[in-house]
Amino acid sequence: MNSIDEDKIFSSPRIRRYEKRIKDSELFETVEEVFDYFTVKSLYELMRRRILKRMNGVISSGKEARVYLGYGYNGEKYAVKIYLTATAEFRKGILKYIIGDPRFEGLLPRDTRKLIYLWTRKEFRNLKKMYENGVSVPKPIAVYNNVLVMEFIGVEDKRAPLLIEVWDELSEEDLLYIFDQIIDNMKKIYCRAKLVHADMSEYNVMVREDLSIVIIDVSQAVHIEHPNAMDFLDRDIRNIHRFFYREAGLEDIPSVNDLKNMVVNCGA
Ligand SMILES: Nc1ncnc2c1ncn2[C@@H]1O[C@H](COP(=O)(O)OP(=O)(O)OP(=O)(O)O)[C@@H](O)[C@H]1O
Ligand SMILES: [Mg+2]
Repeated sequence: MNSIDEDKIFSSPRIRRYEKRIKDSELFETVEEVFDYFTVKSLYELMRRRILKRMNGVISSGKEARVYLGYGYNGEKYAVKIYLTATAEFRKGILKYIIGDPRFEGLLPRDTRKLIYLWTRKEFRNLKKMYENGVSVPKPIAVYNNVLVMEFIGVEDKRAPLLIEVWDELSEEDLLYIFDQIIDNMKKIYCRAKLVHADMSEYNVMVREDLSIVIIDVSQAVHIEHPNAMDFLDRDIRNIHRFFYREAGLEDIPSVNDLKNMVVNCGA
């Protein structure tokens, strides 16, 4: 792994003491995963800062990131998103959402691990910007290296379902209600947060029991001045339109063009 000899690090007395402290702590109580050295260090730092008290089981295990249920010191429940060491393919995939964003001008680490840290911070920053502008997203709590801590969306220990998982149990009226919320949030993302989500779909919308929605997975969101922002917005709107029109069968929703105008028309 890079130029660092992990075996040496792990066999040093300092790290053994450090590992023992972690094992003794409650942090990893029921997590069966073996995290890499850097992730362990990052989680430990979040614990030292008294943000995370312990980690529980996996909520979701994707190709690039895993999401865990975590707990704060006052019993708060958090979703802890951890980016795993990236492949060359991942590096290639994310560059188009970084290069061209004025917020990241001149900031392109060559080192893959540093790029992942930048990507994690980018997600946190996007989440914060959206949250502060009234977009319905999980509340951002903390970020450190490849670990992002945010509000857990769900009831007790069970995460809320994604739109893709529940839509076929919902009435047309319920679906319209969800559609309206998505468009309303896309307007806020564009007009107030000055961002484009760039991965908007039925896979990145959570639905609470009261049918209010929460938009997730904002790492790839770009500033509206990114040269491809309009293409990303176009793709987002097509995705949402396709899902509600074709899959869910809502034939009376506005056309792709009208939806786009609704989102970018930031007047009163
Ligand atoms: N704040 C949250 N509260 C509860 N569950 C969450 C939260 N954020 C994410 N999840 C769960 O974790 C899953 C993956 O999160 P996210 O979409 O952010 O990551 P991803 O990189 O797209 O991963 P994947 O490739 O698995 O989709 C979500 O589909 C959802 O089930
Ligand atoms: Mg996702």
